[in-house]
Amino acid sequence: MTPFAEYEDRFGLPLFAKRGLTLIRGSNALLWDDQGRQYIDCTGGHGVVNIGHANEQVAEAIAQQAKKLITCTCSFYNGQRALLLKKLIEITPDSLQKAFLCNSGTEAVEAALKFARLNTGKSEFICARRGFHGRTMGALSATFNPQYKRDFEPLVPGFHFVPYNDFEALKQAVTEKTAAVLLEVVQGEGGIHIGQRDYFEKVQTFCREQDILLIIDEVQTGFGRTGKMFASQHYDLQPDIMCVAKGMAGGVPMGATLCSEKITAGSGKHGSTFGGNPLACAASLATIKFIEENRLPEKAREKGQYFKEKFKANELPLVKELRQIGLMIGIELKSKTQPFIQALQERGVLVIPAGPMVLRLLPPLTIEYELLDEVIEILHTVLNNEQRITNSE
Ligand SMILES: Cc1ncc(COP(=O)(O)O)c(C=O)c1O
Repeated sequence: MTPFAEYEDRFGLPLFAKRGLTLIRGSNALLWDDQGRQYIDCTGGHGVVNIGHANEQVAEAIAQQAKKLITCTCSFYNGQRALLLKKLIEITPDSLQKAFLCNSGTEAVEAALKFARLNTGKSEFICARRGFHGRTMGALSATFNPQYKRDFEPLVPGFHFVPYNDFEALKQAVTEKTAAVLLEVVQGEGGIHIGQRDYFEKVQTFCREQDILLIIDEVQTGFGRTGKMFASQHYDLQPDIMCVAKGMAGGVPMGATLCSEKITAGSGKHGSTFGGNPLACAASLATIKFIEENRLPEKAREKGQYFKEKFKANELPLVKELRQIGLMIGIELKSKTQPFIQALQERGVLVIPAGPMVLRLLPPLTIEYELLDEVIEILHTVLNNEQRITNSE
């Protein structure tokens, strides 16, 4: 036994419910623990590993850049950063023309909130119930789940929550103080709830008419996950601000806040020591190249459809609903998911929850069909186990 679990428990703050595994190695959709056991990774590092674990092209780009220049603040120009900024503007919706580079999803959202206030002179935001945007004070204020917020109040004031996919409710929540509407196209942490086209089209038109900014959080949906490079592209959304992170740099921490021409932010208004460092930029450039060359958005669409057809949710009485877009998959159960997550792990499949009742699968977009078959088979075995159903009620 390695002492790693013991060290983490002794020296790390116990903020995370541990899964009891020490992972030491990965290859595409597979992971291995320190006992040599193999797992199919349907957590994708919480939706980060779109290009698979230990991706050779990305590892090579990181190694090459590490030998050249790891850090270079944004006070100086840098080639990797310049190329990445150009690339991001090319692949995101046409409305987005400039970007701020940071290190995580929550930071991308923090910047979005600041830019919105800076450019509108207004202070309030409309967000969705069940929405999740991060854990720092601003992003947490925009997050719905009261459990995450309760112990940290007072948070930033001026965040209003309306039911998702309900345009009339959103319309009624707007006041003269509203700076922006902040939404996910697919609510990830909230349980894989897919935004409707009609809803987003109406929200976009309304925001334009009312001179309210539309901020789309694509931290979990970006970089091919939902079957398009960005989920906004399913509905041809042209946001004023878009937040990305997770799958952006193949696992290297990175985020970005992309802005339309309505947004300007001058010297000193915002910043980050690590944001836009050449190492992360090189990783991101190689990641995007891999996603494009291997047509991963299209693959995600095909594999998601394959999963949906083969999974046959209606054959499982315990399943309330399957919600799926690309390889962003939510299986809502009629009972709590925890015992099933554990049982799946014991059988070599790692999944994550999205709330207490939803099993969430975010496998690498590069996962092989044979592994998807295995996942489906094991899901059926585990979800058919009467014993566990009784225990979880
Ligand atoms: C939609 C969304 N926004 C923001 C975040 C926060 O990202 P991070 O954990 O990188 O701060 C997440 C994380 O799950 C997310 O799903």
